[in-house]
Amino acid sequence: MDQNLQTILVHEILQHIDAGTTQLADEIYANPVSNYTSTDRLSKELEVLFRQRPLLVGLSCQLPEPGDFLTCDHSGIPQLIVRGEDRKVRAFMNVCRHRGARVAEGHGNTRKRFRCPYHGWNYDTSGKLVGIPDKQSFPGIDRPACSLISLPVTESDGMIWASATPVLASEASTKIDIDSQLEGLGAELRSYDVASYHQYASRALHLKMNWKLVIDTFLEPYHFGVLHKNSISPIFFSNLCLFHSFGPHLRVTYPRRSIESLRDRPEAQWDLVTHTALVYVLFPNTVFVVQADHLEIWRIYPMNNAVDRSVIVLDFLVPEPTVSESARAHWERNLELVIRTVSDEDFPTGEGIQFGFDSGAQSHLTYGRNEPALTYFEQTVSKMVE
Ligand code: FES
Ligand SMILES: [Fe+2]
Repeated sequence: MDQNLQTILVHEILQHIDAGTTQLADEIYANPVSNYTSTDRLSKELEVLFRQRPLLVGLSCQLPEPGDFLTCDHSGIPQLIVRGEDRKVRAFMNVCRHRGARVAEGHGNTRKRFRCPYHGWNYDTSGKLVGIPDKQSFPGIDRPACSLISLPVTESDGMIWASATPVLASEASTKIDIDSQLEGLGAELRSYDVASYHQYASRALHLKMNWKLVIDTFLEPYHFGVLHKNSISPIFFSNLCLFHSFGPHLRVTYPRRSIESLRDRPEAQWDLVTHTALVYVLFPNTVFVVQADHLEIWRIYPMNNAVDRSVIVLDFLVPEPTVSESARAHWERNLELVIRTVSDEDFPTGEGIQFGFDSGAQSHLTYGRNEPALTYFEQTVSKMVE
């Protein structure tokens, strides 16, 4: 993050600490419970947010070599992401052009061919159909037209973005202009140099709550002093954050208590990143968290077309390859703290909220002026789908 901006944000935080305040939204907001319970609403969200927008599907460090691939079904469309022999990343529908079987499962390395497990049709890493067993039985088949269906994709600064809506035309049209999609946030994201990080671990969590409720847990520190009294509250200020929006995307800055040590240092040394957690929502479903010493990338998806089910994929990235036992022990402790905090505290609370929705106890949730990012995120979703 730009040093000038860091200095400005540190000033704002220190002022809030002195005044005992936090950044406020203009007004409180009543969000209808039906936004978390309506199947109609979820269908629109899937279509408009998860199928039409480019989503983060993976990280460059997960596909370092030609033939490395991963699959992802969470957008509701089976996707296959492959690094080709030319080192270019491509995305396809993971659907065989013969009778529709999945041509790949999970993830893997240095694959030259994707051989459909049903009847053995073969595709290369550029999606081209290169082999048909008993080809005489398919007279006149248009092979080029039987390539895997391409999806728009781009690899940028260590991150791979793909859209689940196919393109049938030329390769040029499969590009995504991610900088314009990020609406001014691109340079700031680039400053974290995701491409230089290494994946320490990846975890999937399945939850009984709406996907937006999961994201909501990341968006305000009002709950720190109560729900996280003994876990992260000793480290972070409660009920104090800064909020900024970038088109539909947003940043929440959570100051660590250590930020007060900057008062004694010259402004040129004010390092915001060390003394905060920076939480970005890369709209709609990626929560990109810059911790002082590592990155967490959370992707949240609705699951099984159910309003009350979601899946989270957490990629935990560290700055160096983990080679020594002591480094492994260090990152394991960090990862465990992160998982324990959300799994023992945030998510059971969220699942309880989802369960309570069906009771009909209330028609709306109320967001305070001290929860500006929450209001912004939920209003943005509403604007896009309604
Ligand atoms: S479905 Fe793939 S080869 Fe038949
Ligand atoms: Fe929390």
